[in-house]
Amino acid sequence: MYKIIDGKALAYNMRADIKTQVEKFTKDNGRHIGLAVVLVGEDPASQIYVRNKIKACEEVGIKSYSYRLDGAVTQGELEELLYELAQNNNVDGILVQLPLPDHIDSESALRIIPDYKDVDGFSENNIGKLCQGKESIVACTPNGVMKMLESCKIDLCGKKAVIVGRSNIVGKPMALLLLNADATVTVCHSKTRNLKQECLGADVIIAAVGRAKFVTADMVKDGAVVIDVGMNRDENGKLCGDVDFDSVKEKCSYITPVPGGVGPMTITMLMYNTYLSAIRSKG
Ligand code: GUN
Repeated sequence: MYKIIDGKALAYNMRADIKTQVEKFTKDNGRHIGLAVVLVGEDPASQIYVRNKIKACEEVGIKSYSYRLDGAVTQGELEELLYELAQNNNVDGILVQLPLPDHIDSESALRIIPDYKDVDGFSENNIGKLCQGKESIVACTPNGVMKMLESCKIDLCGKKAVIVGRSNIVGKPMALLLLNADATVTVCHSKTRNLKQECLGADVIIAAVGRAKFVTADMVKDGAVVIDVGMNRDENGKLCGDVDFDSVKEKCSYITPVPGGVGPMTITMLMYNTYLSAIRSKG
């Protein structure tokens, strides 16, 4: 019998705690915690993500500063804004919604964000510290997945974890977090030979490949924990994950749904990272 890991409920509880901490910070320091959210262009998915992030800020009492730039913005204009935000003492965190348009050199723009305001945890220093098991700002989605596993008291020590997808945003930081939790970690990708066999050996599968219902029941061993990071549309236009939920769930001990699984936790961890950045800047 499988159990569903309810990301929505966990996110709701965590946001209540964060709200209390944010209120205390605001009172003690006589200023709001601030998050700058930068969106370039009109990508519909990015617009929804950004809207949800701003809504979450309102919910927990973080002041959001929203910047919507034209899709034709120049590298110089974007960088000028990021330099300003880097200097602004009311801004504790800077989030640039990805992907940026093709004509923008994302890496060089993102490098302007100081490590202590990098609430996405994408900077070379933050990833490097995570790699060495040092305190850092941790990427929101993988960090949210770890909170979900913790909430169900799933012991990772010595377990075989297989991550499907090697993105810088999810797959790679997820591998580091699981490794830091003493799991034995395999990262699979488009060139992996015999993906099914790799997945069948897994106690924990993290699906972060970006393809609708990619992980099927024949790839999952009995009793596995399956975490679905995907957010796709199926052939009928219905929201679905990277896991074929209806067939896979019967094999699992725990599984996350889409929607209502990892998604709400990603945004919650963004709120948490912004709060931590404010605390670390000592008000
Ligand atoms: N685009 C897709 N996921 C993310 C994320 O976690 N952070 C940012 N900044 N952009 C994204």
